[in-house]
Order: sequence, then structure tokens, then C-alpha cells
Amino acid sequence: MRITVDRRLPADHAARALRADAESALTGRPKRLPPKWFYDEHGSTLFDRITRLPEYYLTRAERQILNARAEEIARLTDARTLVELGSGTSAKTRVLLDALTAAGTLKQYAPVDVSDTTLDRAAEAISRDYPGLRVAATVADFETDLPLPEPGPRLVAFLGSTIGNLDTEQRAAFLTRLRAALTGEGDALLLGVDLVKSPTTLIRAYDDDQGVTAAFDKNVLRVLNRELGAGFDLGAFDHKALWNAEAERIEMRLRARVAHSVEIPALGLTADFARGEDLRTEISVKFRREPLTEELTRAAFTVPHWWPDPQSRFALLLATPV
Ligand code: AVJ
Repeated sequence: MRITVDRRLPADHAARALRADAESALTGRPKRLPPKWFYDEHGSTLFDRITRLPEYYLTRAERQILNARAEEIARLTDARTLVELGSGTSAKTRVLLDALTAAGTLKQYAPVDVSDTTLDRAAEAISRDYPGLRVAATVADFETDLPLPEPGPRLVAFLGSTIGNLDTEQRAAFLTRLRAALTGEGDALLLGVDLVKSPTTLIRAYDDDQGVTAAFDKNVLRVLNRELGAGFDLGAFDHKALWNAEAERIEMRLRARVAHSVEIPALGLTADFARGEDLRTEISVKFRREPLTEELTRAAFTVPHWWPDPQSRFALLLATPV
């Protein structure tokens, strides 16, 4: 069998984790939810549409860099295993897979994602299109579990600026754990990050004219309604994308239009919203070269390669253990 799927999350993991997250999100002040709950079937479809919006330059900029650098990345890493964290549909990964298979080193693709249906589908599609390749997929939450299968050298790709969902402390913890797992000769990290730029451009990327991002943001309420029997009225909230200049990050929030209460039967609680109160649904940190290099240095990486797109909107970097 060329495909294996290792399900490391217990069947009820999502339900239990969502309960715990929703409980602390809705009783805490300020109210905030982790962004992983956006990505049910509908949310993943909406995210896919976001990546094609004129305002959402991130995906195109990253693909442009990958297209330009994939061969160089293959040459520099000699990767035998490509691990991809938060792989989703594995669309951009194909650029890397093409280059790494052409270089002749790659034996295995190891996508890691919390969504088992997305992972099953992606594993099938990749295996079909890359017949020589072993696909070793893992259903896991990489914030707590980092499966890095042999053989090495392993290249861990963490693309799309997903690292921007983590705050400074969470990033430090994550990078330290990743570094501790990258112990093989030649192991490396390929990281995609969105860069600090004009707030207007950033805000537009998270508040598009067609309202796709607003629908994506509100979809998390739909998830809470379905999974926890909650009574959120999507029309009672406005989607907001704010630029936090101090932390240099976009914050997506759902702002209550009026004071109201929402029952969440599965948690046995009622969430009270004041008029204008925000539920923060996502942070999306934007990066600068020097401070990010320092973060990686503190986690015992060096950064031999930094590749921005021609307009310096986005960057791909290669980091290696010191
Ligand atoms: C997939 C987390 C990188 O932060 O830009 C897109 C998600 N949120 N539009 C991002 C997202 C709103 C995206 N990441």
C-alpha cells in the first residue's frame, strides 16, 4: 500500500477540544476562539475561495516564490521526506513535489492535518498523481503532536503564513518543539510568512468586497450551532478586520450588533454579549525579517535563505538546526 493514514486523534477529539475551547472562549473576557474551528467542510470551501480573491494576495505571492525557488529548495535540501504541517488540500505543495521528485531524492510525502476527510482526499490525489511516492498521512494536531517520519533528510513545510495564527509565546513554544524533533542530518524547515505592509492592504485582504471573509468568519458560529446546539444568530454579528499596530497583526472579530444572550446547551451555559462586544476569532501576525530571524535563532535555527516575492509582500525562508 502506498498510502497510510495514521489517525492519532481519538474519534471524539474534535468534539471534546471544541467544547473546551468554546467554554473558555465564551466565558472569558475578552471572548476569543482559536481559529482552527473555521475549517469544517463549508469553512474549507470558503477558505479556498478566499485564496482566489483579488484582495487576498498571500496565496498567489507564496506560489510565485515557490515556482521561482522550488528547484533551488530541492537542491539545497536533498529531502527524502517532505512533511507538510496543516496541509489542507496540498495544492501549493505540488510545486515542491514536482521539484523534489524531478531531483530524484524524494521518497515520501507526509502531510499532517487535523481534518481527516481533507487529509484522506489530499493523500489519494497526491498518490494518484505521483505514482512513485509513498504517502504517509497523519491526522494530528501539530500544536501538541509533531509526527516526523523517516527517512531523512526531512523537509518540514509550514506554508501559507499559518504560523501567524500563533502569538509570540505560542510561536516560541512551537518552534522549540519543532527544533527538538528535527534531529536528523540535513533536516530543515521551509516556512511561509506574510510580511508587514500598509494597513489598508492588510485590512482589505481580511475584509473583501464580496464578503467571503465575513462569511468565513461567521461560519465558526455555524460550527458552534451544529456541534454544540448553540443558538448563534449570524445576523447579530458584524465581521471586523482590525490592524493591531502594536502587535503587528490582523485580528478578526465578530462584533455583536446589539446586546443579547446565546444559549449553548452542550456546555450548559449562556453567553452574554454587550452591544459592540467582540468575539476574537483569529490573529494573523505579520512578520519582519530581523525579528523573525531572531525568534528562529532563539529556537536554535539559523536562516540561510530568505526569499521574498518581487513586491516583498510575502516571504519563504529556509531554516536549519544550528
Ligand atoms: C490560513 C491562517 C494563513 O491568516 O491569512 C484567511 C486564514 N483568515 N482569511 C490567514 C485566513 C482570513 C489564513 N491562514
